Amino acid sequence: MDSQTHWEKIYKEKAPDAVSWYRPHLETSLTLIEKAAPSCSASIIDVGGGESTLVDDRLARGYENITVLDIAQTAIDTNRKRLGKASERVHWLAADITTVELAPSAYDVWHDRAVFHFLTTTSDRVTYVRQVARAVRHGGHVIVGTFGPEGPVKCSGLDVVRYDAESLHGEFGIHFRLLGSSKELHLTPFGTIQQFLYCYCKVE
Ligand SMILES: C[S@@+](CC[C@H](N)C(=O)[O-])C[C@H]1O[C@@H](n2cnc3c(N)ncnc32)[C@H](O)[C@@H]1O
Repeated sequence: MDSQTHWEKIYKEKAPDAVSWYRPHLETSLTLIEKAAPSCSASIIDVGGGESTLVDDRLARGYENITVLDIAQTAIDTNRKRLGKASERVHWLAADITTVELAPSAYDVWHDRAVFHFLTTTSDRVTYVRQVARAVRHGGHVIVGTFGPEGPVKCSGLDVVRYDAESLHGEFGIHFRLLGSSKELHLTPFGTIQQFLYCYCKVE
């Protein structure tokens, strides 16, 4: 099954709060976005946003320039329905991050929680990092959350790559200055704990 079919199936079969990565609010991501872009005019892309409430929380805070990209159209449709009229203030992109063409220097902030770790081939990771380098403006910020070194080895039935701050930053390279990293213990809706690792970088 290809990646798009896999994710469409997941979102068709499961309620938004019945997936392991669900949290009512993505607190760590929200704090880091706030740090990276205190101005509401900042252009933010949530890559592989799924059905998370990050977009709701950013709209509520007054952010005016939010893009949510996901490979699953079903997830985009669920978000649109949940947000109603407010969804018209968001740019929605149903696309694969490894193949989509994003405008150069279009974003001040790139956010990804639990997407990069699904890229298990070097070529996909290199393509992803090229996308970030092209789409985020010089001086912009990149926030990437993956499973940490003690996190699960699979998610949603798919293999993942686990990272510590050094190895995750190493995938991005010297043009991304590491400003900070943190680990988080995520409590899944099933009562299990997953270790996440977040890196917060500046594009130089
Ligand atoms: C584990 S979920 C995380 C969702 C959301 N970021 C969150 O934290 O709640 C991974 C998401 O990445 C999306 N995804 C997986 N591969 C992708 C790709 N190549 N391009 C874009 N989205 C992708 C999936 O559809 C799914 O919504």
